[in-house]
Amino acid sequence: MGYNDVYAAWKADPEGFWMEAAQAIDWDKPPSKALFEKGNDLYEWFSDGMCNTCWNAVDRHVAGGRGAQAAIIHDSPITGRKEEITFAELQDRVARLAGVLRAKGIEKGDRVVIYMPMVPQAVEAMLACGRIGAIHSVVFGGFAANELAVRINDAQPKAIIAGSCGLEPGRVVKYKPLLDGAIEIARHKPEFCLIFQREEERAELVPGRDFDWAEEVATAEPAECLPVEGNHPSYILYTSGTTGQPKGVIRHTGGQLVALNWTMKNIYNVDPGDVFWAASDVGWVVGHSYIAYAPLIHGNTSIVFEGKPVGTPDAGTFWRVIEEHKVRSFFTAPTAFRAVKREDPKGEFLKKYDLSALNAIYLAGERADPDTIIWTQEMTGKPVYDHWWQTETGWTIAGNPVGIEALPVKLGSPTVAMPGYDVQILGDDGHPLPPGELGAIAVKLPLPPGTLPNLWNAEDRFRKSYLSHFPGYYETGDAGMIDEDGYLYIMARTDDVINVAGHRLSTGGMEEVLASHPDVAECAVIGVADPLKGQAPVGFLCLSKGVNRPHEEIVAEVIKLVRERIGPVAAFKTAVVVDRLPKTRSGKILRATMVSIADGGEWKVPATIDDPAILDEIRDALQGVGYAK
Ligand code: COA
Ligand code: AMP
Repeated sequence: MGYNDVYAAWKADPEGFWMEAAQAIDWDKPPSKALFEKGNDLYEWFSDGMCNTCWNAVDRHVAGGRGAQAAIIHDSPITGRKEEITFAELQDRVARLAGVLRAKGIEKGDRVVIYMPMVPQAVEAMLACGRIGAIHSVVFGGFAANELAVRINDAQPKAIIAGSCGLEPGRVVKYKPLLDGAIEIARHKPEFCLIFQREEERAELVPGRDFDWAEEVATAEPAECLPVEGNHPSYILYTSGTTGQPKGVIRHTGGQLVALNWTMKNIYNVDPGDVFWAASDVGWVVGHSYIAYAPLIHGNTSIVFEGKPVGTPDAGTFWRVIEEHKVRSFFTAPTAFRAVKREDPKGEFLKKYDLSALNAIYLAGERADPDTIIWTQEMTGKPVYDHWWQTETGWTIAGNPVGIEALPVKLGSPTVAMPGYDVQILGDDGHPLPPGELGAIAVKLPLPPGTLPNLWNAEDRFRKSYLSHFPGYYETGDAGMIDEDGYLYIMARTDDVINVAGHRLSTGGMEEVLASHPDVAECAVIGVADPLKGQAPVGFLCLSKGVNRPHEEIVAEVIKLVRERIGPVAAFKTAVVVDRLPKTRSGKILRATMVSIADGGEWKVPATIDDPAILDEIRDALQGVGYAK
């Protein structure tokens, strides 16, 4: 069957399609049906089945004869260390860690926050939670204490599992002071913390609250897998929205198992036993789905890579890892290849390595610009597939279903809707638009298994963010179009989310930080085009009356403030002081026009603008910091 047949088969019988896919998963009690309608546009999948994530990701492979196969390869060019962990070893390590958590009172449904660098223990912590039915919430290491505190308050974890440090090139990021700071600020306090001590930095433990991972695991009683309902949350992952309060995306156990397992062959075209590598971070959805879960569920070897595309030690790192571990499918963000291309435009490093094991390269996380795709294709001689998805969906909305049929690549398009997604382009009035017309990208409800059923403790926000604008649809927050052949094109966000080096960030969240500076009366943050990171944030500050300190001082202070409050990952390095912000007559800041000016393209003076002269001031200010050329 080709893609069209498979897509049509899903559309004709979604229930049958997903029940069949569910057979590839081990159930302690099989679900009686796939879709459960909860009413009022809420849906769940496989709710009455009983299953366990860790069993499916680890134990069943040991039982099925893969015990000696590498489950995880840790490759850390930053430390020079490499480690292979077989499925049998992983089972033992995870069972013991789960035993530690259980002995300390963690029960089914309890939340556990995980704040870890790219070490195998991060994946082990996630799996250990799943083993006993605890719900994990991983927080990316590049976030500062305040962001961690916001997540602790929302998820209310009974425990926090943290590494003693992360390693950035040339810099040890001490996690413990950040963790202690977060617990100090947070209203909610965890009962205990489990600290994984790394050689590069041994953290001071707080007696009675903090426990040493290695010591605890050494004497732990292993815990067995606890079957949970298909609709039991596997995890909460916070993602940026329009405000500084992140959205807690929930993932259910059954749907995640079924959907992710389906993607490994049909999208990434790997068979059990093959090596799969997603060069991302466990703190992002790509890391959840394609470092921790999908490869292991499907019986693949997953690479946990602690390094950067360049500088660790050079622009050949990706190719070295691919050769050395015989990676078959490789997934990263376009920004990573832009970084490699910048350092090694002629692919000199690449020539030193043998990429014959590699079948294809997959890109996601941000728009894949045609230049980057073409360069990567030409240099590697491998097909490069863009695919589009979000934290909310957990897996591909639109991609190239290579395991079913490799469709022709059209540059600028992530290809076609995957089975499970009825993608439509809607006009402002909510009506579907014809091919070639630009509109809001929405998915007809229900969303497929493995996608978000709701937001953690925030059903109203879930409805407002995703369901209420276009009744009967999930609103993706992206705008784009579909061509005559059904190929989708993603053009822009419709909200205040920006994408910096593949990291999803909220300009609204940054504005909240700028506005908290005592000298700032009003502010705006926009995402401007950046040749390496895709987008970069730029802040505009209007100062309070009577403030006459040097502008550079205030700019330096707000940059520091964003780094302290949100974290280095915000990559907030540029701000300008202006007298006024361009607004509509009703007072709405004209951010889109500011972006057009910054990017140096054509821009029109909006008909609704209050005072067009302000746009010239904005252009001048942007030129002063290297934009609007
Ligand atoms: N812990 C602590 N700090 C972190 C961090 C982490 N896990 N990850 C990033 N940071 C820091 C960086 O050190 C940097 O700090 P600096 O301002 O002191 O230099 C800052 O956050 C910004 O990071 P980033 O935007 O990633 O820029 P970079 O210059 O370090 O690297 C790339 C640029 C392109 C090499 C890098 O972004 C990359 O490898 N991207 C791959 C894409 C990816 O992983 N996407 C995730 C979704 S698929
Ligand atoms: P995240 O939730 O961090 O994965 O970010 C999701 C958002 O990143 C999407 O809503 C898009 O705006 C953007 N995005 C992800 N993948 C792509 C892609 N392949 N092409 C264009 N934009 C993408």
